[in-house]
Amino acid sequence: MTENSDLLTLRSVSKSYGAVPVLHDVNLEIRDGEFLTVLGPSGSGKTTVLRLIGGLEPLSSGEIRLDGQNISRMPINRRPFNTVFQDYALFPHLTVAGNVGYGLSVRHVPRKEIARRVAEALELVQLASFAKRYPAQLSGGQRQRVALARALICRPRLILLDEPLAALDLELRRQMQEFLKSIQREIKTTFLFVTHDQEEAIGMSDRICVMQAGRIRQLGTPHELYYKPNCEFVARFFGENNLVPGKLGEVHGELRSIDTALGRLICSIAGQPHLKNAPDGAGAFAMFRPEALHVADVPEGKNHFSGRVVDIAFAGSSTVAIIAAGDGRTTRLRMRLASRFSGSALTASETVALSFAPREAHLVLS
Ligand SMILES: Nc1ncnc2c1ncn2[C@@H]1O[C@H](COP(=O)(O)OP(=O)(O)O)[C@@H](O)[C@H]1O
Ligand SMILES: [Mg+2]
Repeated sequence: MTENSDLLTLRSVSKSYGAVPVLHDVNLEIRDGEFLTVLGPSGSGKTTVLRLIGGLEPLSSGEIRLDGQNISRMPINRRPFNTVFQDYALFPHLTVAGNVGYGLSVRHVPRKEIARRVAEALELVQLASFAKRYPAQLSGGQRQRVALARALICRPRLILLDEPLAALDLELRRQMQEFLKSIQREIKTTFLFVTHDQEEAIGMSDRICVMQAGRIRQLGTPHELYYKPNCEFVARFFGENNLVPGKLGEVHGELRSIDTALGRLICSIAGQPHLKNAPDGAGAFAMFRPEALHVADVPEGKNHFSGRVVDIAFAGSSTVAIIAAGDGRTTRLRMRLASRFSGSALTASETVALSFAPREAHLVLS
């Protein structure tokens, strides 16, 4: 990704349907050339964001700017955007070439140029030999590629993709994820991609915007969201996690202590001034990923506690041990074991000494 200027800006955008508010004060900057994903559970307002940008719905308040110009009232057909929907929305009575060229033919582009650009777009989505087929003669993945070619051919500034892969089975979805990403890299067009699947978002995006109940909760790179979530919602939504509640203690440089049912834990606050500045005794969670938790090599030290193995769950590429730790063994933790072979080193109901490195643990305010 190149660090470019902002292409599109949403400023204090709100939307209500009748009296029901569905978006609250949404502020978002989309950079030219990036792959930005809007991620959130069903009903969080993702599609509404896309519909407002596309011009399918009016805003209730706020504004949308393109290259600094307010386009909030610009009609749909003048906005240089195209949308790819989950259900493809292809014309069944038109061939693949007819579908892909449709947007150009309604703009009265000369036929020769349409033919050239259709061939180019079909080449890009690897469907050059399918030009004469009808949508009914294609697989789901091929239809989605036709829909993408149709969106690309008008050379939009921004492509809006609303859960385009949700209808595909897992294997095909993986292939299409790689395919979409490689096309985006090749043509360098800005993609605004919507999904409710956090793994999909992590794998594809330059940045991710996490939404909950009509609000943006956090915007950042996949790495930032995974390791430095700014709230409990993002910490729980984004992959498997251990969150141990407690009260904040002292700051020591880039580390801060938190008193929990596992005892006093030390976590990193590097690059997170709001955690350094939070008052002593404030409620927070110590957060560490299952892969950060280890059987302790030495009997004591920082972030050291004991737990009982409740279960060992084989999950294909890795195995997860479920641990009951803390006073009365009420804190449930997940610990990633590297492979099923190391899984055999632990047995259910065994008591083990555990620890994690302070730099692999973070704090989240509660
Ligand atoms: N046309 C509409 N009229 C009334 N409510 C709507 C309409 N479209 C969406 N909503 C409501 O707005 C909220 C956000 O919907 P949506 O943007 O489709 O969420 P998502 O795409 O994240 O699943 C939901 O509560 C939904 O029921
Ligand atoms: Mg939706």
